[in-house]
Amino acid sequence: MSQKEFLQKKIRDYEKEHMKSVAEDPWRLRFHLMPPVGWLNDPNGLCQCGGVYHIFFQYSPFHVKGGDKFWGHYVSKDLKNYTYLGAPLVTDQKFDADGVYSGSAWVEDEKILLYYTGNVKEKGDFDYIHKGRGANTVLLECEGGKYFGEKQLLMTNEDYPEGLTQHVRDPKVWKEDGIYYMVQGARKNNDQGIVLLFASEDGKAWEFKKEFQSGAFGYMWECPDLFQAGKNYFLSVSPQGLKREEKRYQNVYQSGYFRIRGDYRGECRLEDFEEWDYGFDFYAPQTFLDENGRRILYGWVGMPDAEEEYTNPTVERGWQHALTLPREITEKEGRLYQYPVGEIQKLRKEQQTLTAGEEKETHSCFDLELTGICGEAFSVEILEGLSVEWKDKTVSLSLSKEAGAGRKIRMAELDRLNELRVVADTSLVEIYFNHGEKVMTTRFYPEGEKRTVRFSGEASEAKLWDMDGFVVEYPQKED
Ligand code: FRU
Repeated sequence: MSQKEFLQKKIRDYEKEHMKSVAEDPWRLRFHLMPPVGWLNDPNGLCQCGGVYHIFFQYSPFHVKGGDKFWGHYVSKDLKNYTYLGAPLVTDQKFDADGVYSGSAWVEDEKILLYYTGNVKEKGDFDYIHKGRGANTVLLECEGGKYFGEKQLLMTNEDYPEGLTQHVRDPKVWKEDGIYYMVQGARKNNDQGIVLLFASEDGKAWEFKKEFQSGAFGYMWECPDLFQAGKNYFLSVSPQGLKREEKRYQNVYQSGYFRIRGDYRGECRLEDFEEWDYGFDFYAPQTFLDENGRRILYGWVGMPDAEEEYTNPTVERGWQHALTLPREITEKEGRLYQYPVGEIQKLRKEQQTLTAGEEKETHSCFDLELTGICGEAFSVEILEGLSVEWKDKTVSLSLSKEAGAGRKIRMAELDRLNELRVVADTSLVEIYFNHGEKVMTTRFYPEGEKRTVRFSGEASEAKLWDMDGFVVEYPQKED
C-alpha cells in the first residue's frame, strides 16, 4: 500500500469511527461547512468547473487542535447540497512531508490545476524561520474534478528571490492576457511581510517578477490573493504582526485588502488597507470567479494562535472551526462589499416580522434583515448572549461570558448604519452592516435550540426567517 493509500484509509477509518459523535453535537453547524471530524483551517483550491463548485480546505482530521495538514474536499452544484469527497491531497512526498499547505485552483479545459505549498520541517535544532524549513511550490492536475494526477514539484526555496526567510507560501494562480500569474506570501530576513509575483507561459516554469510591500506592515503576509473587482485591482493578504488598536487589528492576526494603484504587472503601489472582517473569528480568506462571473470569497472562521483554539467548547466534541458562507464581492468607489450569495436566501423558511422592542422567538438557525435604519443609535440582541450596538459612529459586538467562550468585545468604525443583517447558525454568527460594507464574524455557544431576538431603534422593516440547513452527504468508500 502506498503512503497515499495508507493515509487515506487511515483518514476514512478515523472518520467512520468519530463522525457520528461530531454529527450529534448540537453545536454542529447546519449551513456552514465544517470538518467531518477534527480541525479545519483555510479554504483552498476554490473554483467552479463544469458547473460544480469545489471547496477544498486545510484539514487535520486526527488532531482537533491542529496537526499534519491535508486537503479535505467538498463539492456542490448549487451551494446548498454538498458531497464530501475525502482528503485527496495528503502528505505522501518528501517535498510535502510536513503538510500539504494552502493553495489555489485554476480551471482550464475542464481541468483543475491545483497549486499548493509542500511544507517540510527538518529534524534538528532549527528556528524554522531562517533554517530547517522547506517551502515547495507544487502543482497537481485534477481531471473532471475527480482524478488527481501526480504531484509536480515546481519551485523550492532556492528558486525564490534573495533576502527571504524560509517562510514563503500559499500560491494563488490566475491567467491574464495569455500569461499565468502567481502570488505567494513571504517573510523577509528583515521581518517584513511581502507578496511575491511570478509569471509563467505554461503554468509550470515560473519566473519571479516583483514584490509587493507596504513598508513595515507586519512580519509575514500569508494567503495572498490578487484580483479585479469593478475597474480596480486588489491585493488581499493575511498579515501577521500588526499592532492591536481599539477599533482595528484587534485579533492575533489580520486579513484585509489593499487597493492597487497602477498596473500590478508594472509600476504600482498599495493603498488603503481595509480589514475584511472585524469579528473574532476570521482569517486566511480566498476568492475565485465562478462560471457566472461572480467573485466569491470564503474565509476561515477561526484564528490561529489565539486562546480560543483551546477554549472553543467544540474541541471536547471532536471538531473545531468552519468556513464562512460564500460571500459575493462587489466593488463600490474603490471599496469592496461582501454579501452572502443569493443561494443562501433559498434556505429561508417562513417569514416573521418584528417591531422595535418586541422579543421574538426563533430557532438556532435564522436570518434577520433590518432595512431603512435611521436615527443616532441602533442595537440588536440575541438574548442568549450576543449583542450588536451602533452609536457614536462605532459598531460593537459583545458576547456574554457563557456564550463567548473567551470572546468579549470587538469594535469597528462605521459612519452611518442603514441596513443590518444577522445570519446565525447554531454556533456561528455573521453580521453584515450596510449590505456588506463591514462584516463581523464570530463563534457563539449558547445552550439549547431556542433563540430570542430583539432590536431597538428605528427601522422601516425587520424580517426574520428560520433557516434550513445544507444537505451534506458523506458517501463511504468501501475498502
Ligand atoms: C494560514 C496558514 C497558511 C498555511 C496554512 C497551513 O492560516 O498558516 O499560511 O499555508 O495555514 O495550515
